[in-house]
Amino acid sequence: MQACTIIIFGATGDLSKKKLLPALYHLDAENRLSKDTRIICMGRRESSQEDWLANVTEYVSPKARGGVDDSVLSSFLEKVSYFKCDLNEAESYQQLNAQLTDPSNGFSSNIVFYLSISPALFGTVGDQLAAVGLNKEDNGYRHLVVEKPFGYDRKSAAELEQVLSKNFTEKQTYRIDHYLGKGTVQNILVFRFANLLLEPLWNHKYIDHIQITHAEQQGVGGRAGYYDGSGAMRDMIQSHLLQVMTLVAMEPPADLNDESLRDEKVKVLKSIRPITEDIVDDHAFRGQYAAGTVNGEQQNGYLEEDDAPANSVTETYAAMKVYIDNWRWRGVPFYLRTGKCMPESKAMIAIRFKKPPLELFKGTDIGASHANWITMGLQPDNTLRIELQAKQPGLEINAHTVALETNEQEDPAHKLDAYEAMILNAILGDRSLFLRSDEVDLAWKAVDPIIEKWSKEKDFVHKYAAGTWGPEEVNKIQDDPCHAWRNNI
Ligand code: BG6
Repeated sequence: MQACTIIIFGATGDLSKKKLLPALYHLDAENRLSKDTRIICMGRRESSQEDWLANVTEYVSPKARGGVDDSVLSSFLEKVSYFKCDLNEAESYQQLNAQLTDPSNGFSSNIVFYLSISPALFGTVGDQLAAVGLNKEDNGYRHLVVEKPFGYDRKSAAELEQVLSKNFTEKQTYRIDHYLGKGTVQNILVFRFANLLLEPLWNHKYIDHIQITHAEQQGVGGRAGYYDGSGAMRDMIQSHLLQVMTLVAMEPPADLNDESLRDEKVKVLKSIRPITEDIVDDHAFRGQYAAGTVNGEQQNGYLEEDDAPANSVTETYAAMKVYIDNWRWRGVPFYLRTGKCMPESKAMIAIRFKKPPLELFKGTDIGASHANWITMGLQPDNTLRIELQAKQPGLEINAHTVALETNEQEDPAHKLDAYEAMILNAILGDRSLFLRSDEVDLAWKAVDPIIEKWSKEKDFVHKYAAGTWGPEEVNKIQDDPCHAWRNNI
């Protein structure tokens, strides 16, 4: 195990407290951090080392699986230090560089920079790091990890890319999409490519349509200030759901190398049939939650949330129909949807097969045939269900749906967080769980006409009561009544 120095910009922020520091603690607990690895937490305010370690203990302890282990915690804290830094000041970076290069401090020269800060600051930090030579890989590696949102449309993403690529190469850049760090999402590849059984069926000849759903019970909470400028299409579909779609749709890669995987995902994104402005309404739908009841609790409407602008039409629910015009998928609609304040929190993929070519049992008690489904639950549990038709016991020929089903509930004491996998891969230099710049660009290209049209139509958005599955009018984007949403595994 190679040692490295992990430098977190924005270490006093929410993501660092809730995800990054707990993930690093767990990696340490699993012996995935070498004993000489160091974590430098950059923050604007003054803090003594002692106070900072007390804070880190407070962030990590409630998240520690199976309760915090005192000896693991104390060895973890030995790796952590605080560094007061003004991100705009050259002096801070000079001091940082001096600290890193002083051999008596024992910092590894392999460095992961984790930018958990506003994207507006990426350029400043990149320039300042480059000014002291900290982007150069003459001695050890330099990996730059950046958090989403990666732009708010295609143009702004390209501008951000330009800012980053000024000082860091594509190979040094690790763009986070936390969905790729989820074990259940990685399982899509295993399910598809470790089982020969599915491959002959996995195409337009046998599959009728595919649904990818992400639903969450929470509303926007205190995030309306940020969320209002984003909305569900940018927040979930452009990023996470299109990524899930690429894994479902991609061709088998040549190997599991990060570039081979990303090449195949990019081919899917390139094959998306453009949704031009005149057909946006046939392909995309938006909604916003009104007051209702979620899980027995009263929920305010989006417009009543703190910081939500009056009359905002920002969508908290979005659905999109995508066609992938390649040999495998031509003609098969992929329906993607996401919503806040839904009846359940879950993410799932539902694949509906076509009906048999001949309705052999139509005149019998079995009647018209039922289509087969494969459903995969991504969260809360890792589930897989294959639905088939079988004869019911008895003299009559009656059929009913039977299912082969697995439900792998992860033991909470061992449930990994996506950030553990991603941080570990950033340390190891494996970019398969990170987005390449062309993936980001093509995902924006797919949704750009939709967000542009919606941004112009400011007077109306369909409402849905919190605690329901979204506006019923969404069915206007469905090509066939049998494409109605499936809400259950
Ligand atoms: C984030 C979005 O990227 O993903 C949030 O900004 C959303 O709005 C979250 O709630 C969903 O992630 P998960 O892992 O809870 O499904």
